[in-house]
Amino acid sequence: MNGSRLLGSGSALPKRVVTNAELAAKIDTSDDWIVERTGIRQRYIAGDDETTSTLAIAAAKAAIADAGIDAASIDIIILATATPDNTFPATATKVQHALGCNGGVAFDVAAVCSGFLYALTTADSLLKTGMGKRALVIGAETFSRILDWEDRTTCVLFGDGAGAIVLQASDGDATGEGVLASRLHADGAQHDLLYVDGGPSTTQTVGHLRMKGREVFRHAVVNLSSVLKEVLEDAEVSAEEIDWVVPHQANARILDATAKKLGIPPEKIIVTVDQHANTSAASVPLAFDTARRDGRIRNGDLVMFEAMGGGFTWGASLMRV
Ligand code: UT7
Repeated sequence: MNGSRLLGSGSALPKRVVTNAELAAKIDTSDDWIVERTGIRQRYIAGDDETTSTLAIAAAKAAIADAGIDAASIDIIILATATPDNTFPATATKVQHALGCNGGVAFDVAAVCSGFLYALTTADSLLKTGMGKRALVIGAETFSRILDWEDRTTCVLFGDGAGAIVLQASDGDATGEGVLASRLHADGAQHDLLYVDGGPSTTQTVGHLRMKGREVFRHAVVNLSSVLKEVLEDAEVSAEEIDWVVPHQANARILDATAKKLGIPPEKIIVTVDQHANTSAASVPLAFDTARRDGRIRNGDLVMFEAMGGGFTWGASLMRV
């Protein structure tokens, strides 16, 4: 086996929707400002009975049902999250237990908003080495738990949710399906532009998200355009051949600017930031599953996934689904 292909996808959202108007009643912001600067209209916020693992398990079950497989056949689980249920063990092991597929590989990946790209690329690589035959790749977050709800520059931007896909080892060269090329990057020099000001080894607290939004925005457009070009070159595919781009959903203006830089028409970009806001590692699989379920993304389409986030970390992956 020299590749991996998609078997199914699923997603899950908390029960509670919080609109911009609801936030504007509590902090000094407005629906107009949030919509104009970000494209966000609402977000889902986890209740007391909802955690990263409950959302991840619901998304995983939906992906397994969509794939039409027995959960016990999954031998690799990689969960991308920056908001795990506990500092340890990995939330992936909780998911594994809930699915009843104990015994295989299960671990979390911490690459914040690029987490799903890191998890997907790692799963693809493990499947290629023969470490397993079926991988569950999940992005799941409860960012509402690390937001400073007094800080209007960040708290209006994020939401909670989860998305998952099932991949199977395949003979990619023969079928032309599955992951065709991926690239990952990180630049630790940019740590202070987007980080959480707490942690077990520093403050012994969970901490709150801090971001210099304008600078992150500038880096995002440059880094995403360049990694997309790298992946297209690796796969020997032109931008025109892409059917859909499924980007990290941070800001509608970042999506527009990146697409423009690459000459990709806006109608090929999947946008869910208006409904979900920024769900960090969950945003790409959540947007992907949304677009598969509403019939936009179909089997056989060429799909580019991309994301950038804290670290900085960023990456892109091209898949024939
Ligand atoms: O997921 C990881 C990647 N994250 C991102 O990609 C986020 C990237 N950054 C962004 O999306 C944008 O920079 C933001 C949406 C965070 C901010 O938009 P901006 O156009 O860069 O606004 P700004 O930070 O330059 O702020 C403009 C003004 C400021 O007021 P002054 O200083 O011009 O008087 C802010 O204080 O908007 C003010 N402001 C707000 N006003 C109403 C900031 N937040 C709010 C708010 N409501 N929620």
